[in-house]
Amino acid sequence: MHSSYLLPAFAALTAAAKPIVAQQSPVTVPFVKVTNFTGAAQLAETQRARISAFIDRAAGGDPPVNMPILDEGMLYTATVGIGTPPNNYTLIFDTGSSNTWAGCGFAYIVTSSTVDTDTGIFVQYGGAFVDGEEYNDTVTLGSLVLQSQGVGAAQLCPGFQGYNGILGLGPTDLTLRTVGEYPTREIPTVVDTAFAEGLIPEHLIAISFEPTQTAPITNGEITFGGIDPTKYYPEITYAPPTTTSPSAQSWGFDQTITYNGQTIQFQAPGFLDSGTYNLFLSSDAFATYQNLTGATLSDGGYLTITEEQYENLADLVFTIGGTDFALTANAQILPRSMNVDLGIDPSLCVLIALSTYSPSGTTGIDFVDGQVFMERFYTVYNSANSSVGFANTPLTRAIIN
Ligand SMILES: *[C@@H]1O[C@H](CO)[C@@H](O)[C@H](O)[C@H]1NC(C)=O
Ligand SMILES: *[C@@H]1O[C@H](CO)[C@@H](O)[C@H](O)[C@H]1NC(C)=O
Ligand SMILES: *[C@@H]1O[C@H](CO)[C@@H](O)[C@H](O)[C@H]1NC(C)=O
Ligand SMILES: *[C@@H]1O[C@H](CO)[C@@H](O)[C@H](O)[C@H]1NC(C)=O
Ligand SMILES: *[C@@H]1O[C@H](CO)[C@@H](O)[C@H](O)[C@H]1NC(C)=O
Repeated sequence: MHSSYLLPAFAALTAAAKPIVAQQSPVTVPFVKVTNFTGAAQLAETQRARISAFIDRAAGGDPPVNMPILDEGMLYTATVGIGTPPNNYTLIFDTGSSNTWAGCGFAYIVTSSTVDTDTGIFVQYGGAFVDGEEYNDTVTLGSLVLQSQGVGAAQLCPGFQGYNGILGLGPTDLTLRTVGEYPTREIPTVVDTAFAEGLIPEHLIAISFEPTQTAPITNGEITFGGIDPTKYYPEITYAPPTTTSPSAQSWGFDQTITYNGQTIQFQAPGFLDSGTYNLFLSSDAFATYQNLTGATLSDGGYLTITEEQYENLADLVFTIGGTDFALTANAQILPRSMNVDLGIDPSLCVLIALSTYSPSGTTGIDFVDGQVFMERFYTVYNSANSSVGFANTPLTRAIIN
């Protein structure tokens, strides 16, 4: 049935209801890990700037400040087609921001499917930003073809050297105040559009990472609209969304962290973020963790331990939605190949944890579970009820680093 056949009110109703489509199945898109280090201190600082920008944005910073993307460190990119016929762009995939845009490095290519919405896009990512025109266009993600997706066409994009733009996979509310003059207008994300257009069976994505020693490498995949049963066991535990801002604006939830049976962080808010590399803890949780592991504070705020201390390292356990998820000793240290990149003595083990430099309970962000966490667990981002899900993977307890 064609919508031209329907009365406008009827059309609006069908658009709002869950679409009924005969053939829908989840679609998987691979992604590639790329690295770019200039030192431990720089990597730690760039990530802290990302957390600060998120806190500022929630405080009503005007213009809005979104999560900054690292222009250095560890990033994940996916090849995304835009237009008809599709042109390929290398976009950074980011669960910490929600606008999708392209046109950095080479100009956005206008094709027969490009519709100018006559509005501008401006998104600030800490130090970097994008300024341009907002289009509706066809977006191709693997075998998914989204007919009408809001996509920014960058005119200015300082801070994004080497990449063509962003595939925004955060919650829709992070698009508020990014497009046009309308303060309450949100732009549906690619996940929203895929679901609204009836292309995927469920309004969610799931991410599978594999921990690796090397980059660039294709070591993960995003599944749009479903959960891949071969990637996890035994079941997904969902965490209710946190009510604490600003974690609540992202993929936020509450968790308790214990080390060797001792609580280092009581139930507190934070979020999952593919744009953060390390594990960030509140300053008090970090100090307790340092004390319990006997680690030494080094450059950039990294904790280092000796080979002997590593042998005695206990699990670091995250209790989320009533289930315990354990980072093994091996999962708590960075790949040793990174020591050289970070300028740290190769005979030491570097722990993945960094301090936010803020005591718990003060900023609304008491932890950030970054890539080092996401590489050990399967994660689900459910837009239907704003909750995130977690499960173990075959590599949760693997010895890799
Ligand atoms: C775009 O990328 C896809 C998948 O990698 C590839 O099949 C296709 O040929 C590429 N298209 C162009 C125009 O390069
Ligand atoms: C852009 O797409 C959205 C939905 O995807 C639609 O509501 C809007 O009217 C479109 N804008 C234009 C100018 O076509
Ligand atoms: C790598 O980092 C350097 C220094 O921060 C920066 O100038 C360069 O553009 C980055 N390259 C890529 C591909 O991100
Ligand atoms: C969100 O939806 C999932 C899948 O339907 C469900 O299992 C989970 O319990 C829900 N989460 C919350 C917090 O209600
Ligand atoms: C941990 O803290 C306690 C009490 O403050 C102190 O006695 C102990 O020496 C510390 N342990 C380490 C390894 O720093």
